Amino acid sequence: MAIERTFSIIKPDAVRRNLIGKIIAKFEENGLRPVAMKKIHMTREQAEGFYAVHKERPFFGELVEQMIASPVVVQVLEGEGAILKNREIMGATNPANAAEGTIRKEFALSVGENSVHGSDAPETAAQEIKYFFSDDEIVG
Ligand code: TYD
Repeated sequence: MAIERTFSIIKPDAVRRNLIGKIIAKFEENGLRPVAMKKIHMTREQAEGFYAVHKERPFFGELVEQMIASPVVVQVLEGEGAILKNREIMGATNPANAAEGTIRKEFALSVGENSVHGSDAPETAAQEIKYFFSDDEIVG
């Protein structure tokens, strides 16, 4: 399988509960390598732009409020089949449906406060990486 890059966010609910290290450990244990990483406090404009695809959905307002409530960790993860692998490590959007051993099963509080974001396809991975990182911040 090809080496890919994907985009990941450790969301405010997880950062607040001191879970950054435990979540990065899951990525590393499963063969994903952080090649770019920073802690940021997203602006409202950044969060609304990032989730623009969901802007007509009923949960959009709450989603944006959660994402800007406190800092997040944004990362680029690299590895074999990284996009799908990251989605597997994360688990289902709703933690009630997430498989054993996944990040969301272990750490998520609810469908809204679900601890991590991960790109869902090659096109979104490329867009999302570019949204938060310049080329010189990625040190593969
Ligand atoms: P989505 O892209 O469907 O899920 P994923 O994060 O697994 O790719 O939704 C984006 C985020 O929107 C999701 O992580 C949490 C929030 N959300 C809700 O708050 N309520 C919902 O019913 C859904 C579907 C998503």
